[in-house]
Amino acid sequence: MAGVGGPVVLALETSCDETAVAVLRGCELLSAEVASQISIHQAYGGVVPEVASRNHLRSIQPLLTRALGSAGVVLGEVDAFAATAGPGLASSLMIGTSMAKGLAVAFRKPYLSVNHLEGHLLSPFFGLPGGVRPAVALVVSGGHTLLVDLDGFGRYRMMGQTQDDAAGEAFDKVGKLLGLPYPGGPHVNRLAREGNAARFDFPRSMLDSGDLHFSFSGLKTAVRYLLPKLVPGDVADVCASFQEAVVEVLVKKTLRAAADEGRATVAVSGGVSCNSRLREALEEACVQRGVELLLADPGVCTDNAAMIGFVAALKLAAGQVGSLESDIDPNLKLAVP
Ligand code: KG4
Ligand code: ZN
Repeated sequence: MAGVGGPVVLALETSCDETAVAVLRGCELLSAEVASQISIHQAYGGVVPEVASRNHLRSIQPLLTRALGSAGVVLGEVDAFAATAGPGLASSLMIGTSMAKGLAVAFRKPYLSVNHLEGHLLSPFFGLPGGVRPAVALVVSGGHTLLVDLDGFGRYRMMGQTQDDAAGEAFDKVGKLLGLPYPGGPHVNRLAREGNAARFDFPRSMLDSGDLHFSFSGLKTAVRYLLPKLVPGDVADVCASFQEAVVEVLVKKTLRAAADEGRATVAVSGGVSCNSRLREALEEACVQRGVELLLADPGVCTDNAAMIGFVAALKLAAGQVGSLESDIDPNLKLAVP
């Protein structure tokens, strides 16, 4: 039975290296727990799939107990069980989906599969009184860089995407080249605060390509060629200059997409949207153009289960439920171009 405020959803997210559980009542978040595996994967300089899935298996049960405890909900009160079905690492996706399906069978409740990208895409609207509204959306994470025209819940049109590395991947690869810990993004952001962004003129790839696609792999190559010429004191300047190149392309193309579509709102999400310079540059550009900016709350920028639960709650409200026979899809797409 749905209680006051809507059905209770238990959402699981295990697509990569964060194990996450959230409990929602309707679109209201009751609790959210994340167990990061960053320190485990740091020793390898990146995510090792088998290590990730084994750690999901180990963490998920205690995390679930904690999330239910802080929400003040028992399993018998949950109205639907949701999990990320893709995109992501197959062996990691299987942990969350298997657990959610098992609980759905045991408690005879619906199971909902959620697209991780839809979770990121809609996270700027989480907690907003009006819910999801038309916007041009930029999703910038470790695995994806997408520009999407969002007409409403479930109505998405792909406008542009990266042709090679994702923006977060570029941050992480440059971080690795500079000897920073994995993932490099937050470290590059931190060092960039003390650096001179005008010191190195890195390429603004595809800025004037006439379309809304991106390319970030040339930037990483430019940093690699510069490395032998650097002295240790240059690292902050490299970080600031590299970050500025990424931010400029992201901001200009996003605002261009909004103008092309005549959208009055820009919604930005994904791990890279934690970046302080990107947030600042977006704010400046949106004020200048008179466009409303919705930035995902920093707590839901990187991988989390609250955004998965939010999509599940919207699906339930729209009368959609998933099937226990549905498969995971490591290459799941958000929308057909
Ligand atoms: O959304 P997310 O947690 O996972 C994926 O779905 O990929 O994004 C992780 C990515 C990583 O590449 C990480 O370096 C990047 O987000 N990231 C940042 C910052 N915080 C996280 N990149 C730049 N600046 C940050 N402050
Ligand atoms: Zn993600």
